[in-house]
Amino acid sequence: MCGIVGCVTSERNAPYLLVDGLRRLEYRGYDSAGLAVIKDGEIVTLREVGKLNNLESALKASGLGGTIGLGHTRWATHGRPTQVNAHPHRDGSGKIVVVHNGIIENFRELRAELRDQGHVFASETDSEVIAHLIESCYRGDLAQAVLEATRRLEGAYAIGVMHADHPEMLVGARKDGPLVIGLGENENFLASDVTAALEHTSRFVYLDDGQVAELTRDGLRILDASGHEQPYVQTNIAWSLAQAERGGYPHFMLKEIHEQPTVISDTLLGRLDETRGEIVLDDLGIDDEAARAISRIHIIACGTSWHAGHVAKFYIEQLARIPVEVDYASEYRYRDPILDPDGLVVAISQSGETADTIAAMRMARQAGVRVVGVCNVIGSTISREADGSIMTHAGPEIGVASTKAFISQLVALLLLALRLGRARGHLSVDELRRHCLELRQLPQVVENVLKTEGRVLEVARRFAGAQDFLFIGRGMNYPIALEGALKLKEISYIHAEGYPSGEMKHGPIALIDERMPVVAICTRSPVYEKVITSVEEARVRDAKMIVIGNEGDEKITEIADETIFVPHVAEILSPIVNVVPLQLLAYFVARERGCDVDQPRNLAKSVTVE
Ligand code: G6P
Repeated sequence: MCGIVGCVTSERNAPYLLVDGLRRLEYRGYDSAGLAVIKDGEIVTLREVGKLNNLESALKASGLGGTIGLGHTRWATHGRPTQVNAHPHRDGSGKIVVVHNGIIENFRELRAELRDQGHVFASETDSEVIAHLIESCYRGDLAQAVLEATRRLEGAYAIGVMHADHPEMLVGARKDGPLVIGLGENENFLASDVTAALEHTSRFVYLDDGQVAELTRDGLRILDASGHEQPYVQTNIAWSLAQAERGGYPHFMLKEIHEQPTVISDTLLGRLDETRGEIVLDDLGIDDEAARAISRIHIIACGTSWHAGHVAKFYIEQLARIPVEVDYASEYRYRDPILDPDGLVVAISQSGETADTIAAMRMARQAGVRVVGVCNVIGSTISREADGSIMTHAGPEIGVASTKAFISQLVALLLLALRLGRARGHLSVDELRRHCLELRQLPQVVENVLKTEGRVLEVARRFAGAQDFLFIGRGMNYPIALEGALKLKEISYIHAEGYPSGEMKHGPIALIDERMPVVAICTRSPVYEKVITSVEEARVRDAKMIVIGNEGDEKITEIADETIFVPHVAEILSPIVNVVPLQLLAYFVARERGCDVDQPRNLAKSVTVE
């Protein structure tokens, strides 16, 4: 998830407008940033690693001015966060520059093809290929060249393009990535979202998939995929800047919950290869032979990531038949674990900077055990030091309580399990294809789950005054019960416990009376009837039952005080679906109680001390 901004204006302050715009987009990524302007008929670029301040200092030192430019703030996916990999990227002639947000799935094929034609590449990124592709399609009309080039791209993109021979024109295009045009007075903008230009205009045009926009200072043309000019609709955005940064949502957490369908698509992008019956995990560093040699897996993590690890235990044991142990990183590092050189350690960490997880990872590596990091922040300590990695493409998560990063971890870990299962012969090509098909439908399913929001809000209003909550689930949804309880306590400060439902009668049942709401995850699975039994046991003790069930399940309506229905999916996908209403429940309860949802007391987003 990167941020794009472009502007064409009458003043010579374009680079400063770009830096201002990028600052508004920093939430989309911040490992490096860059900009390009046209000066005396030539493209000049500035690119810096790290936060935007570094780019701003470089800009001030350069004294650069200009009336047209493109800027980019990067959240690395392909290629490390270095200056060379920072955007904008140039073509071979040096006349074309491109900024890109998204992932080009077929970039290797395209790069090979272009190399054969004599193109030389400077970076490790998938994005650079776009600049070279546009160069190869360019015959004097930039928008036409972009149109032709984008026809060859597979994957997701939002791009901004500029050509030294067209010093008054910006071209933008998108597919499955956000891009808006801001219409100002004698100046126009191109951006990943409205926040980047909201200071200058409230009039926006949302570009559709497959469209190409050609902007000048006082004009806008929109072309459809076949090159025909199309009429466009202007939208008036009346948001304040603060509102806009949260995408119009009152809190980052709610925005991030709503981003989950996109996050799932992004995490899957380029990784499902049905044709060859393969899961593509480029940086895993484990070939089929090594996968077959793994004796057991140790998962180490903290907090929400630890819950993802528990779901992964089910995934890996079922699909790849490798024994898995899950440890709190803080325990693992001090309990003298048995470190098996044929084993594999999987360190899960959104930030990649959690002190205990880093220490546990280093300990394993020192003992000669291979470590795979599952991280959201490329360039973070864990992603750098691990022997292999799977990046989760959730984009920066601002809310302290993890939501979209958790979902992306589950998806990434399921991909790992499928990859290992296939390599070890426990999954046939057909079985793998079936899983791929179901995974491809998952973003839409989660989009539908988000429609339960109104229902969850009603439930939250009814129980916002409760002092305790119990969450129960079973099988691979037992870690989801733990995560539901953790979310609620983190942001609403209500005491909440998560339990596997079979354990309820060994303790927590003593707490149950009419003041205790019990949230039960009761979707269809081989242990469905077992959870129903626990629900009955709680109900006869006067607990208020909030049951998450599958649409059309009449039994649930009979036994629950409140129901939240979600679509039925394959069991392995049910944790990803079922966690969503629990995130929403925690969010709405906290909001009803007036809590500081995004920055709950005493918690930190990343715990970099022991
Ligand atoms: C903190 C955060 C949690 C997170 C945990 C692990 O406690 O508040 O949301 O789950 O750290 O963080 P990591 O970045 O390693 O996943």
